[in-house]
Amino acid sequence: MKIRIAYFIIIVLHLTTGCSHAEPVLSKKILIVYLSRTNNTKAIAEIIQKNTGGTLVALELEKPYLENYKQTVQQVVSENETGFLPPLKTKIDSIENYGIVFLGFPTWDMKMPPPMKSFLHQYDLSGKTVIPFNTNAGYGVGNSFYTVKELCPNSTILEGFEIKGGVERDGIYLAIKDEKAKEAETEVKQWLRKIKIIE
Ligand SMILES: Cc1cc2nc3c(=O)[nH]c(=O)nc-3n(C[C@H](O)[C@H](O)[C@H](O)COP(=O)(O)O)c2cc1C
Repeated sequence: MKIRIAYFIIIVLHLTTGCSHAEPVLSKKILIVYLSRTNNTKAIAEIIQKNTGGTLVALELEKPYLENYKQTVQQVVSENETGFLPPLKTKIDSIENYGIVFLGFPTWDMKMPPPMKSFLHQYDLSGKTVIPFNTNAGYGVGNSFYTVKELCPNSTILEGFEIKGGVERDGIYLAIKDEKAKEAETEVKQWLRKIKIIE
């Protein structure tokens, strides 16, 4: 009799918890990893941090890119051609503790920048929810969001966010500031609600 009651309780508990062992998205710990040269992507990362309370981590390289824009573009093009992955100075402790990882990067050469590729090769995001966000000079994300899918084959990838940032080629560095930063915050919040990260 006792055993039957125990079975009954187990079945009821199982049914009331929806038979699912998945943790609700909102209860997962959030990491926001971003790459930013002229601080536009950083501005979006900070808005996400303010609205989600996640941990913010900037990707830094062992050997930073040059200040010169044209030389940097050339270097990035050649790194993309050879598949070179620049070594990261940034180390992330206990990545296994995070269930949601936001990935922020600018479009470079219409692709994901090599340092973000280095990050995704170095850290295994299997089983996590991955959410990309991007700033660009107005030409869009290129194939960078597709690369997120390729490099995180065992993650749940949610709809990403993109916004126009700076145009370094024309000497426009940080564009997401003042009024533009307020507009960006409204857009970011709409997106975070849509993907059910905030209410
Ligand atoms: C090396 C390099 C390559 C870039 N390539 C592109 C590109 O292909 N398409 C684009 O729209 N913007 C391109 N940009 C512009 C950046 O995506 C844009 O300025 C972005 O907002 C910069 O973000 P950040 O301030 O976080 O570094 C490039 C910038 C750099 C430095």
